[in-house]
Parts: sequence; C-alpha cells; structure tokens
Amino acid sequence: MGRRARFSLHVAAPAAVLLLHLMLAAASDPPYTCGAGAPPNIPFCDTGLPIDRRVGDLVARMTVAEKISQLGDESPAVPRLGVPAYKWWSEALHGVSDHGRGVHLSGPLRAATSFPQVILTAASFNPHLWYRIGQVIGVEARAVYNNGQAEGLTFWAPNINVFRDPRWGRGQETPGEDPTMTGKYAAVFVRGVQGYGISGPVNSTDLEASACCKHFTAYDLESWKGVTRYVFDAKVTAQDLEDTYNPPFKSCVEDGQASGIMCSYNRVNGVPTCADYNLLSKTARQSWGFYGYITSDCDAVSIIHDAQGYAKTAEDAVADVLKAGMDVNCGSYVQQHGASALQQGKITEQDIDRALHNLFAVRMRLGLFNGDPRRNRFGDIGPDQVCTQEHQDLALEAAREGIVLLKNDGGALPLSKPTVASLGVIGFNANDATRLLGNYFGPPCVTVTPLQVLQGYVKDTRFAAGCNSAACNVTAIPEAVQVASSADAVVLFMGLDQDQEREEVDRLDVTLPGQQQSLIESVANAAKKPVILVLLCGGPVDVSFAKTNPKIGAILWAGYPGEAGGMAIAQVLFGEHNPGGRLPVTWYPQDFTKVPMTDMRMRADPATGYPGRTYRFYRGPTVFDFGYGLSYSKYSHRFVSNGTKPPSMSSIAGLKALEPTTTAAGAAMYDVEAIGAEACERLKFPAVVRVQNHGPMDGNHPVLLFLRWPNATDGSGRPARQLIGFRSLHLRAMQAAHVEFEVSPCKHFSRASEDGRKVIDRGSHFVMVGEDDEFEMSLE
Ligand SMILES: *[C@@H]1O[C@H](CO)[C@@H](O)[C@H](O)[C@H]1NC(C)=O
Ligand SMILES: *[C@@H]1O[C@H](CO)[C@@H](O)[C@H](O)[C@H]1NC(C)=O
Ligand SMILES: *[C@@H]1O[C@H](CO)[C@@H](O)[C@H](O)[C@H]1NC(C)=O
Ligand SMILES: *[C@@H]1O[C@H](CO)[C@@H](O)[C@H](O)[C@H]1NC(C)=O
Repeated sequence: MGRRARFSLHVAAPAAVLLLHLMLAAASDPPYTCGAGAPPNIPFCDTGLPIDRRVGDLVARMTVAEKISQLGDESPAVPRLGVPAYKWWSEALHGVSDHGRGVHLSGPLRAATSFPQVILTAASFNPHLWYRIGQVIGVEARAVYNNGQAEGLTFWAPNINVFRDPRWGRGQETPGEDPTMTGKYAAVFVRGVQGYGISGPVNSTDLEASACCKHFTAYDLESWKGVTRYVFDAKVTAQDLEDTYNPPFKSCVEDGQASGIMCSYNRVNGVPTCADYNLLSKTARQSWGFYGYITSDCDAVSIIHDAQGYAKTAEDAVADVLKAGMDVNCGSYVQQHGASALQQGKITEQDIDRALHNLFAVRMRLGLFNGDPRRNRFGDIGPDQVCTQEHQDLALEAAREGIVLLKNDGGALPLSKPTVASLGVIGFNANDATRLLGNYFGPPCVTVTPLQVLQGYVKDTRFAAGCNSAACNVTAIPEAVQVASSADAVVLFMGLDQDQEREEVDRLDVTLPGQQQSLIESVANAAKKPVILVLLCGGPVDVSFAKTNPKIGAILWAGYPGEAGGMAIAQVLFGEHNPGGRLPVTWYPQDFTKVPMTDMRMRADPATGYPGRTYRFYRGPTVFDFGYGLSYSKYSHRFVSNGTKPPSMSSIAGLKALEPTTTAAGAAMYDVEAIGAEACERLKFPAVVRVQNHGPMDGNHPVLLFLRWPNATDGSGRPARQLIGFRSLHLRAMQAAHVEFEVSPCKHFSRASEDGRKVIDRGSHFVMVGEDDEFEMSLE
C-alpha cells in the first residue's frame, strides 16, 4: 500500500498525452500531482497562485461524473488530470492509528507512539502537554505519509463532545465534561497536529496534517435501552447549545483553526446535523469563520433516509447535506446517488462545486498538488521520526501527569521498595497491554503490561487475575486471596475494558461489573495491610464501597494510560512520580442511572426531580467531584493583590450609557454583544495566585480558577460554578510561585440566557481558586 495512486495509465485519447506529463516525471518518480515534467502554465499546479484560484482551475476542468466521484471518503483518481486517489478517513485520537482507511501500519513502519486515551491526558489540566502530543501526532503522520504508508493526511480527531453522561461508551475519547477545558484541548491539539504554534496567528496555507473537530454536535449517546445514535433525536435547548454543546467546536474552529469538521449521526431538535444549514454553514462557516472541509460521520448520509426517514428519497438526502454545507460523505451514498439527484434537479452542479472547492483546498493546503511531497516543507520528515525516544518519553509523561490519586489513607502510598519484599498483583487488567490503549489506537511502539513492570520493581511479585475480564463473570477468587494473604503489599488492577464501554456500547450501570466488588473485598480482607486499588477505565465508576472501606488504603485512577501506562503506574505507586492529575468528570453514584441517558438537559429541574448534569449543574451526591485529585504533597493557594484593582463596569467610558436589561425575575444584566469587543478588551484584569507546595515531594500541580454564582438556583439557569482558567505548575517541595490569569468579564463572567444570548449579570461575581480562596468583583 502506498501513497502512489494506482490508477491505470492506458489513457487512450491523444488529448490526454499532455496531461499524462502531469503524472509522469522521470520514469522512476511516482505520479505525484503536478510533479516534475508537468507542463508549465497549468494554474492548479502553480504554487505561486492563491489556493482558491488553483482549486477553481482544477474543478473547472472536471466533468460532472468526475466531480461526483470525489464526494466519498474513498475518492478515486482522475487520471485525465493527474489527480491521484485520496482517502479522507484516517484516525489519530491519541496517536497515529490504522483505524480508518488512509493509514497502513503493516510495514515497513509497524507502530506509532500510543499516548494515553484522551480522558487521562485531559486530567493533567496541562494545555502545553496536550499541544506537544498534537505536535508528535502531526510529525508521525507526515513521516508515515512520506514513507509511502498513507493515502491521506486528514485525521478525524479530536473527539470534543462534552462528556455529558457517565454511561457514554465514548466518553473515554474526550477531554471530559467541561466545555471550556474541552475547547482548550481542542484548540491546542489541533494546532499541534496541523503544525501551527500553540497560540497566535497561523499560516493557513500550510498544513502538516489536517485535524477534524467531531462530532458536530450534541452527540454523546451510542446505544441505550434500544435508542441508537443512528436514530436518536437530541432535544437541546438554545441555552444548553450555547454554553455546553457548541463551545468546544467554536474554540476548535476559532482558536485551533481546524481544517476539518465532522457532522454527527444524531439529529438535533429534529434535524440531522449533516443536513443542518444553520449549523454547518451559518454557525460554523459564517459565524465562526471555519476554513476547511466538512465530512459526515460514516454512513451518516444514508441513515438520513434509511434509518431516520427524514429524507423521503436517497436523492433528497444527498440534496439535504450538500445544500446544508457538508462536503464529503464517509461512505459511498453521495457518490451513488449524486448523479440522479442532479438529474432530478434536487441539486445543481454549483452545489457540487462548492463541496469540491473545500475538499481540494484542503488537499492543496496539505501540499499534495505541489509535485514530489519530499521536496515540500514537510518532505524531510522521515521514518526515523516515528516512535523516537522523545515521543515515547512524552507518552510516559502524559500518563504520569494524568493519573489521579483518589484516596490515600494512612500513607498507604507511596510504597517503598525496601519494605516490600513480596508484591501481590491481582486483577484481569494487570497483565494485558492492549487494555491499556482504550480504543482508536494504533500498534504501539512498545508493549509492556503493568505486571511486567512491577516484576522489575519487586523480584518476588505474584499474580492472580481473580476473574476473566471486566465482566468478571468467571472468577478465581480463592487463588487471588491466596496470593494476597502471602504478600507484603497488594495492588489490584480492576475497572472496565472495551467490552463494557466503547463505540456503540454505553453502560447501563456505573458500578464495577460482575463479581469485581466481591473479589476486591475478599482480597482486601485477606491482605496483611490495606490494599491499593488501581482503576483502569475511561468513564467514571461508583466505587463508594472502596472509598469507605478502611482495608482499601489507596485508590488510583489511571484511565487507559497508553503504551507507557504500566511504567507510569509503577512510578506513581513507588513514589518516583508525585501524582497531580485531577478528575475531568464528575463521578456519580449508581443512583444517577435512574436518569434517562436520552435526556439532554444540562440544567436541573427540581420540579420533576431531574438532577442536572456535570459539576456545573448537578447538585446531588457524588462519589468524586470534577477537579478532585490528591497528591503526595500538600498545596495551598491564595489570591495576591499588588494594588491593581479590577476595573468596574462604570469606569469604562460609554458603558454608563449602557442600560442593563431586566429579566422577569427582576435581575439586571448586560448583553455582551452590546458591550462590544473594544470595551470588553478594556475590562480585562489580571488575577494573580500564589501557590505553595508544602512538601514533602516535588510535583506537578494544576491550579483551577472557577467563577461561582451564588444564585444558581434562581431559575435563570446559571451554573453553580464554571471553570474559567487552569494552569499546571511544576513546584519543588516547599517552593512557592505566582501564577497570573487574565480574567475577561465578557468571556468569563458571562452566561447564556434562555434564548442563547450571552449576558453578564449586574452585581457580584466571585472568583475562586480551588477551595482555598475567593475574591468578589462587583459589576454595577
Ligand atoms: C504561508 O505559507 C505558504 C506556503 O509555505 C507561503 O507561500 C506563504 O508565503 C506563507 N504566508 C505567510 C503570510 O507567511
Ligand atoms: C460473561 O459476560 C460476557 C460479557 O457480558 C458474556 O459475553 C459472556 O457470555 C459471559 N460469560 C459467562 C460464563 O456468563
Ligand atoms: C500587578 O500585577 C500585574 C500582573 O502581574 C501587573 O500587570 C501590574 O503592573 C502590577 N502592578 C503593580 C503596581 O505592581
Ligand atoms: C442573590 O440572591 C440574594 C437573595 O435573594 C440577593 O439578595 C442578591 O442580590 C442576589 N445576588 C445577585 C448577584 O443576583
């Protein structure tokens, strides 16, 4: 398999001879588009022209049949024009993967760096780390391509749907439940993959690889009690869309400058997202300035007719999506029914040209119409750039930084090697390297299980799986008890696996499946000392029983930690790394599962007992909170004032004239749009936090800044709290540092009103750092 398109060269017509030169350079060169030997003055090959002109020229040369052939993820060659085949579908969720059709890791390259599943990486609260992971993916993607093992450079990552419900099988793929944090992840990851700087303006002409914000929008249900993602109609309020479901996509586009968007399977308020002009064209392209291509999820066009019955005929479905602004269909439905849709007058050739323009612009921005890609800007990235030591070290760093210490009673952790002569390792998740990878992984650079790593720490390490899998319906508890009772220290590796949570599979319960609890309790009862419980899972689990059981000394959550996960866990267990991760999702009790997964409302409805969702709106009991995480060190935070006072609204000239509007409930608020960008800029102020590590260990420590709304329950739909900033600091034991956040009242104090407008309440706003300190700012 290779990048070289294998189109046949028996082009018969003499007129084609000139164009054959476009493909045929020296006999030894593969047929790169516009390669050496291409005749001069072909505008689409002229790298001196703007991309738009080049694309216009190419599309104008194509026949209708050729045009329609390009509307599926497997786009065939157009030999007449020297355009090779292209595969739009590649994956790189947490490392270059061979899921999808574009990337082949079957040799000579057989692996790529496998980072932790995204939910764990997110727990570091460290955007610089997220960016560097994106960068490595961009580099390895190019290397694989340059090595002839990719037929495309468009990667369908990141997955940035808000992790709304703990049962969602794909929550593991996301950065969690907070829209601000998810938006930040999206922006920096995309920038890394596309070869951009972490912030600032970008040169959009040049793409190292193309990233894709998916799944647009309000997609977060696979299959729950008979409702599948293919038919689910998500009922979403304007308020929830504005402040929960869409912000990650806005940030992915505006801040990340992503070159791809994927529309989802589900409908939103009756309309399939791929057929929603308001969403794709008005919101993404016009309002956010999206520059790139829009793909459907795979077969998401066919279901508009076949499963949803939204379109009466196949041709109607094709027309719906092309008129809405979708450009390419993952699948062949549009390729199959495009011609008849055109014949029946349901689409025009201009509709097709519009889509092709977006598609070829991305291929050109990737440098695929510039001749031999090895002579392009990214042409010298060779196979030696894949699985480098540096990349693998980053995979280890990401796993270590994400791991969250959930419980640590009586100094159960860290373990000290000299006092552990024998180690009992229990659990089905201890000795399976594939389970460390979650889903959408590629073959990793190295394969090592937690058990194998621990055997390197303690020579006398004994293992018993205790049960067969996360389902834990075939047990061997006596063997596990035997191992536990004879060892100095016991570590259990439990949690979930991909049979429990994955694409197409949501959970029904959030408890540990099968006999896991009874295995854990039996082992804890038999052990000489309180045991250590390591949870490998993406979605949260209700481990209340373990939280309160004194025979369980410590609990670690390690997500699906990727290729270096075994090493990362061992380093945390033995105190070579001080855990600093924080939960990016609320861990709910099992009782939460009485809420229908299909209820998309974020806000609580006390009248009907609906509890609301995520830390922003849910007021019920939790097992562990969003942002929770312990460390081997103690930290403190407080705001420091150096005499700078936050500005008041009334100090801003022009604002005095701005009358706040008044709600029915009598609360006064300002419309952010009415304040205007310039005044918003002047309202910004720095909030400086002093953070101290009180020891005893060095550590990474995420500082989380929240806005608190004291009147969250007054019916206006305000969140109780909202993350407005975060930064991960490395502090040596006893070291103190100052960290400065820029607070923008327009951005950070605003909220969505019921009709989806952004407003700022008049009155007091409270900014909190962790649980330690807060200050009040009054907007009059
Ligand atoms: C952007 O990159 C292209 C291709 O490398 C280059 O031709 C162009 O000059 C760059 N534009 C800017 C503004 O740097
Ligand atoms: C155990 O559970 C799995 C997954 O739910 C199921 O496929 C399997 O049949 C069960 N095995 C037994 C022995 O019950
Ligand atoms: C206070 O700190 C801010 C942010 O660090 C800085 O911009 C400002 O100049 C400082 N003011 C004084 C009086 O030091
Ligand atoms: C919050 O509610 C209290 C009591 O109803 C009221 O006194 C206060 O002004 C309200 N604050 C804001 C910011 O609306």
